[in-house]
Order: sequence, then C-alpha cells, then structure tokens
Amino acid sequence: MTPDAIDDAVAHLRAGRLVAFPTETVYGLGADAADPDAVARLYSVKGRPTGHPVIVHVATAEQLDTVAADVPDWARALVARHWPGPLTLVVRRRPGAVCDAVTGGRDTVGVRVPDHPVATALLTRFAGGVAAPSANRFGRVSPTTAEHVRSDLGDDVAAVLDGGACAVGVESTIVDATGPAPVVLRLGAVTAEQIEAATGLTPTDSLHGAVAAPGTLASHYAPDATVEIVTATELSERVGAHLRAGRRIGVLAPDGITAEHLAAEPLIAGKSTADAPTVGPADAVSAPSRIVVLPPPADAAAYAHDLYARLRDADLLGLDVVVVVPPGGAGIAAAVTDRLRRAATVRE
Ligand code: TXA
Ligand code: MG
Repeated sequence: MTPDAIDDAVAHLRAGRLVAFPTETVYGLGADAADPDAVARLYSVKGRPTGHPVIVHVATAEQLDTVAADVPDWARALVARHWPGPLTLVVRRRPGAVCDAVTGGRDTVGVRVPDHPVATALLTRFAGGVAAPSANRFGRVSPTTAEHVRSDLGDDVAAVLDGGACAVGVESTIVDATGPAPVVLRLGAVTAEQIEAATGLTPTDSLHGAVAAPGTLASHYAPDATVEIVTATELSERVGAHLRAGRRIGVLAPDGITAEHLAAEPLIAGKSTADAPTVGPADAVSAPSRIVVLPPPADAAAYAHDLYARLRDADLLGLDVVVVVPPGGAGIAAAVTDRLRRAATVRE
C-alpha cells in the first residue's frame, strides 16, 4: 500500500466518493460520515434500505467522544481493552456529529476503531468519521478480499484499497452501550467472556431483538446456493438425499468430519485456499461426481477466516446446495454458527 494510494482514497472521500478499505473483520465501503450526499450514495450502491444505520469508523479510541455522548464508564473500559479491534459500540450520538442518514435517524450511533494498518492510515489521514458498512450488496456475503469487493461493486466504488485477506473474516461484535450493562447485538470475535472480563458486567444479548440492524436480520450473509445446516451424523444422509435429487452439492465442515462421516466419494478434498482457491468452476463441470468438499477449516478461527470465501466459491462452482456442519463451541465459533444460520434462512 503506497502513501499515494491512501492520499488518493482520502481525496475521493473528501469529494463525496466511496472508497472500499480492508479491516481485520471484513472490507468496508466507506463514505464521509459528515456528508449527506456521500452517505446517500453509500446506501444506493449497497442497495440498503434507508433507516438501517451504518457504523462510523475512526482512527483512535480518543475520537469516540467526537461522535458519542454519555459514554458509560464500563464502555470506556471495554474499548480501552479492545480498540483497535473487532468491536463496535452503539452509544448515544453527539448532536450534529454525523449526518442523520448514518444513524437512520436514531439518537444512537455505532462506532468502531478497526485494527488494520491500511484502515488506520486512511482514517488517520482523513481525520474524521468514515461511515462504512461491509462492502457487499445488501443481504449478500461480506467481502474478505479486495477481489471480492471488485467483483461485487465494480465501478460503483471509486477506489479499493487492497490489504490482503481479512484476518478475522466475520463482522465485528456489536455491543449496545446505551444502558447500565452491555447488550450484545451481534456476535463476533470479541466474546462475551472478554466483555465481562473488561467491564466486570455480565453481558446479555439481543441477537434477534427489535433493533433494525441488517446484520441481525434473520436472512443475511447469503450466497445464491442454498445453505443447509446439519450435524456431523446427519451429513451422509443429507448429502445422499441431495444427490438422489440430482443436485450439485458442496460440503463445508470442520477438519476431520468429512473423512469420518461422508460415505460418498467427494470430488475434491482440498487444502486451505484462503488466497488461491484450488476449486474452480471448471473442476466441477468436468468432474463425474456432483459433490465438492470445500477445504475444511482446521479450527474455529480458520472457519471464520475462510467462511465467506467458501460461500462465494460455492456460487462460483454453481452449486445448488452447501451442506454445512458448523464449528462447535462459544466465542468465534458461535459467531460463525450465527452467520451460517442467517445464510441458511430462506429469503422471501
Ligand atoms: O466488522 C464490521 O463491523 C464491518 C467492518 C466494515 O467494520 N462493518 C459492518 O457493517 O459489518 P454493516 O453495516 O454491514 O453492519 C453494521 C451493523 C448493522 O447491523 C447495523 O444495523 C448496526 O451495525 N448498527 C449500526 N449503527 C447502529 C445503531 N445506532 N443502533 C443499532 N445498530 C446499529
Ligand atoms: Mg454487512
């Protein structure tokens, strides 16, 4: 990443244009949070219904008070521990700090300090808040590489800063900090245990609450392929049923599960393909079998890292169904399972 590329991106933001940038979670589609026209462009390119708030990104935790008001002490303790990092705080909005469209007219605002050198360079040089949802069209799979952004948004974005594959791979944990104790609105890499350790308060959650938060809508993060969640012991039977129905099937499961539980002969038992997928549409077309085993993640963190790339591979491969065994456990595994459930929800 050259300083010139950052300067160009800052110039685009100042001119009201959109810039995609890497964070440690997913790529964001950025607009000047103080420019109503730029934010309107953001909603239109995302295809996002207005009224759904976007997160404001700033370079440092010290900038929280430039957009927020009445931040509780427990929330300050939380960001002291986890910013920069995969954590978004929903706080009371400081009057006049960001334009109304950013917050969907609410009196609260989502704020995040991302942990990625390119994001930090951009935000530091821009020196203001950058409103940024994930850089995908509304409801679809979030991008975790610059290539994902380019293929989704094409010329609708003025610049894409390439920072490589995102380290975490799923969106930030969102914590509502407008009350006396933390309420988790979206699961992510910062876990309930970490929130409790930092604040001394036990978080509750409102993952299916009434907050109009797109990342918390039941159907979200979805590829074109149908996502079906199964247990390891159900895997073989479900794959068999889809095969008999003539469907083209993908299997995504933690390492070791497929070898033990899949009776059918898979097309590809891949290696990790975070940067260079080993499976491509040509493989699927030329192969006799209709089962593709997507490269199995070694652990929950790898599952998060690879999840969206695997769901995108499923579409590139023209699969009808991806049969998925989620990672077991809490923390980042729970965040992955949450995204899989939303991807599996049938769209209207
Ligand atoms: O990891 C992330 O958070 C990524 C990167 C780019 O930072 N961003 C991201 O943004 O996932 P987006 O727009 O795809 O999801 C943001 C979530 C939405 O569910 C939104 O409704 C919620 O944050 N949100 C933002 N401001 C809010 C507010 N004031 N009250 C409640 N929810 C809010
Ligand atoms: Mg999103």
